Amino acid sequence: MSIVDLAALGESFTRDPYPVYARLRAQGPVHRIRMPEGNAEAWLVVGYEAGRAALTDPTLSKDWGKASPSFPLGAVSSGPHMLRADPPDHTRLRKLVAREFTTRRVEELAPSIQKTTDTLLDRMLSAPDGRADLVEALSFPLPISVICELLGVPDLDRASFRTWSNDALGATDPEARMTAAASMARYLEELLASKRQQPGDDLMSALIHGSDGGGDRLSADELRGMAWLLLVAGHETTVNLISNGVLALLTHPEQLAALRADLTLIDSAVEEMLRYDGPVETPTYRFTTEPLTIGDTVVPGGGELVLVALADADRDPARFPSPDRFDITRDTRGHVAFGHGIHYCLGAPLARLEARIAIRTLLERCENLALDIHPAAITWRPGLMIRGPQSLPVRFAP
Ligand code: HEM
Repeated sequence: MSIVDLAALGESFTRDPYPVYARLRAQGPVHRIRMPEGNAEAWLVVGYEAGRAALTDPTLSKDWGKASPSFPLGAVSSGPHMLRADPPDHTRLRKLVAREFTTRRVEELAPSIQKTTDTLLDRMLSAPDGRADLVEALSFPLPISVICELLGVPDLDRASFRTWSNDALGATDPEARMTAAASMARYLEELLASKRQQPGDDLMSALIHGSDGGGDRLSADELRGMAWLLLVAGHETTVNLISNGVLALLTHPEQLAALRADLTLIDSAVEEMLRYDGPVETPTYRFTTEPLTIGDTVVPGGGELVLVALADADRDPARFPSPDRFDITRDTRGHVAFGHGIHYCLGAPLARLEARIAIRTLLERCENLALDIHPAAITWRPGLMIRGPQSLPVRFAP
């Protein structure tokens, strides 16, 4: 099978990967690709059915120990965590925090999410020129404040953490990824040490002291891994749901008008934002442990990297009619923006709540919200994993 060199497609692929995935899908469900990240090679699964099947295939491992010895990228993380684990380790790690992320538990955070949104919008709307970068003003700071509050890290060094987190997931240079991960590990170590000395009524303290009721506790490495995972998930994903979602509204005026006319559509609008242009283009890495047949292709065993194009699964016309149309009233059930199977996003209720509050309040407070850049001029985050604009200039003055 010939290699599809996604790395060579450069900026145009980063800006709009959907037509490229659709062309591949027309040829078959799996393709050998060269990734922009470190020129590594992988097998890319496209289409809805094949994507869902790969996400639940028990022979695909999330354990980096199963990666082929010749795989050129190292694991970027500050410790072992559930997205790098298979059962039974995965089951245990997920159980320790799962009860913090139930819809009921998360709903309790609504007043504080609303308050933070209001404060951020007060600041944004006070700009004398009536302009702002929505990423800086709202999409980025909101999820960070929320996850920091939940974990109990009020004084996070946000500037450094953002650089490390962005580099660890998005840098195409493997060395930059590793350096960022190492800096973050050192930082988290200090953060956890101070939490050990001054425990509070927060998730991180609860994890340190093993208050799950079952007597299970995380090791020091696992604690670092868990803190890393939750903070990185809080930094890299919801930000892009808010930005991509607002961008979709501003480039589809009839959908924006429909939402403004009936803000109770916000829940279904957010689901369509997730489906149409979700923050996770391809999820975390899966490695083959034995030969895997996808369509007519046998992907070899022995630690080959398999990537699932979530972005393409959610644009598959076999599942979503006229998939390239952004329609906030469509039936989006079954979209895979949060993944599928045992690794289905733990933070989904939180991400949904944040996006609903943020976008609804933004629309209520900015009657004249408009893009302040041509959509084609937007710079997008590099790499295959995360999809979102680096910045999103908007104007809101009458
Ligand atoms: C719109 C925002 C978000 C999106 C689109 C998203 C997407 C995803 C996806 C696709 C996965 C599965 C990855 C895979 O199977 O390889 C995942 C897993 C996960 N997400 Fe999210 N996520 C979001 C927000 C969050 C937030 C806010 C948190 C927590 C603070 C979070 C925590 C997690 C965790 C812990 C996992 C691993 C679950 C497991 O391995 O069992 N996510 N997320």
